[in-house]
Amino acid sequence: MPERRAVGREPRKGSAPSLSEGRVDVQSLLRDAAGSLTSRAGDRSGARLEAEVLLGFVLGVERSSLLTQQPILQEQSAAFHDLVGLRVDTGRPVAYLVGHRGFRDLDVLVDERVLVPRPETEHVIEVLLDLKASGLLPPGPVVDRGTGSGALALTLARTLEGMVVGIDLSGPALEVARLNEEALGDAGGRPVPLVQSDCLSCFADHSLAAVVANPPYIAAEDFEGLPVDVQGHEPRVALVPKGGCPGSHYAALIEQAGRVLVSGGWLVTEVGEGQAHEVAERFESAHWSQIGLTDDLAGIARVVHAQSL
Ligand SMILES: C[S@@+](CC[C@H](N)C(=O)[O-])C[C@H]1O[C@@H](n2cnc3c(N)ncnc32)[C@H](O)[C@@H]1O
Repeated sequence: MPERRAVGREPRKGSAPSLSEGRVDVQSLLRDAAGSLTSRAGDRSGARLEAEVLLGFVLGVERSSLLTQQPILQEQSAAFHDLVGLRVDTGRPVAYLVGHRGFRDLDVLVDERVLVPRPETEHVIEVLLDLKASGLLPPGPVVDRGTGSGALALTLARTLEGMVVGIDLSGPALEVARLNEEALGDAGGRPVPLVQSDCLSCFADHSLAAVVANPPYIAAEDFEGLPVDVQGHEPRVALVPKGGCPGSHYAALIEQAGRVLVSGGWLVTEVGEGQAHEVAERFESAHWSQIGLTDDLAGIARVVHAQSL
């Protein structure tokens, strides 16, 4: 087991060496912290990244400037140790500790009310933008179903000309999406209506050009087996579908999207590992066309898209 660091502000044996005038060397601090964080991050490079994000947060600087960072104050080093200790001892995700997470070119506010946006979800955006670039996206509104932090809806609103709407079953999640929408609005972004709704029930028949979704796709019986970072901190409603069965959840999503999409509209949905072929078959049996799969960077079939007839 890698060395675990206790939470606390007392200088500890084995902590990064203090330099003269009570300052601490940043590179040794990062090296030590990465050692402690490896148990949570899974590998040394992930741990180093986590250490840099946490130290950048404490110092209020970009990660990229840490390489040339001068030695820091004991108080800053102690605050950093506190955060590293919290991460190691409780498994609280780094994104919740620092309060934000990068998603494509956005910096999205996150806390325990929403799922931390994942890099693989960016493929959902890429698939939709490719359809648009190929001239295959009909005009009309696009809906991010299960918007959570708003990451997908707000990203799309920066790129598509038409209206983008975010919906979610969870009121607390929508509060976070609204904070993100306001922050982007202050920075000149377009308004994105955010609506509380179960699946797509609030939309009229044949009214949408596309639906994007990253649905909860963990089966209820697998929830307890998730890492504590996920199971103990991220909202259950974002992980496990109502009823506990991802297959039925995808069936309902496909059925409802078929109702609300215009003819030629698209459903682009993320799927869990090993679920892509079953979801593609569901599209096929419901007579959708142009069914396609997209792999994530790990080679896992991660996104399924299909066109409504
Ligand atoms: C996996 S999270 C995705 C969040 C965000 N789109 C992302 O990718 O980071 C699933 C989201 O779907 C919402 N959700 C779960 N069941 C839903 C339903 N029946 N109707 C609408 N939203 C639902 C959850 O509250 C959660 O925010």
